[in-house]
Amino acid sequence: MPRNIIIDTDPGQDDAVAILLAFASPEVNVLGITAVAGNVPLPLTQKNARIVCELAGKPETLVFAGCDAPMGRKLVTAEHVHGKTGLDGPQLNDPVMPLQDQHAVDWIIETLRAAPANSVTLCPLGPLTNIATALQRAPDIINAIEEIVLMGGGYFEGGNITPAAEFNIYVDPQAADIVFRAGVPLTVMPLDVTHKALTTADHIAGFRSMGTHVGDMVAAWTDFFERFDKEKYGSEGAPLHDPTVIAYLIKPDLFTGRHINVEIETTSELTMGATVADWWRVSDRAPNCTFMGDLDADGFFDLLTERLARLG
Ligand code: BDR
Ligand code: CA
Repeated sequence: MPRNIIIDTDPGQDDAVAILLAFASPEVNVLGITAVAGNVPLPLTQKNARIVCELAGKPETLVFAGCDAPMGRKLVTAEHVHGKTGLDGPQLNDPVMPLQDQHAVDWIIETLRAAPANSVTLCPLGPLTNIATALQRAPDIINAIEEIVLMGGGYFEGGNITPAAEFNIYVDPQAADIVFRAGVPLTVMPLDVTHKALTTADHIAGFRSMGTHVGDMVAAWTDFFERFDKEKYGSEGAPLHDPTVIAYLIKPDLFTGRHINVEIETTSELTMGATVADWWRVSDRAPNCTFMGDLDADGFFDLLTERLARLG
């Protein structure tokens, strides 16, 4: 039985690859995609989500627009990484498939209230505003949540938007705090993992050599996305963050981590959005998530390449 998932996202080239991986994988069933403001403002993230659905040949997918600003702070975006559109790189056409009228948060609440217990997995790939707003407005929805698997945070790798904080958590730390305290099974893909999922020139050549439209688009996206991080880190390639979330649902054995306590910094401006991970279990705070620390990078890219090749 495929796992029912909701992808909450702010595309973003790496979000786009994550969405494609989900569509290409029979282990998951995408109930809908909810867009949130993050890498770029909401009008672009909801549009980008629809561009990706059409690219995957899934124009029937339900796509909703959600929150356009964090719960208590001004929106910070990342055009310096993802370009002006959020999906810079290849030439893109405007989508023709519709955006649903309903607000993403209302749809998440309605869908979870109608679902059997422990039957839906939430996959947040951006700031946690939509998910936290839904949890705050309708705490009963946790009954239907099987697991939340999210990309965010960093411990050994520190931060990527400030020295202390990773982008998704930094943009809306209040929302992250609500999610990390929600008491639902939570699996976290921090920078400690995603910085090991580097798109090398060989991987990009592999996408291109698929000889498909999807392969060409993913190659163009990863090419664009790379330039910033390669220069910043002096690395061989750039981290492909968000697809780790979907890869975990398909092949959890690719990842190793620890069930630990992680708290979110919400007050200090200096360390705002830091994920204070008790990796060494030096506090008596109760574990609230599985915080991943490592992945089998070759296995991850083999999976990604094999799956993306299934799309036309
Ligand atoms: C995260 O921030 C965004 O720029 C990426 O899409 C990813 O979700 C990495 O810090
Ligand atoms: Ca993202």
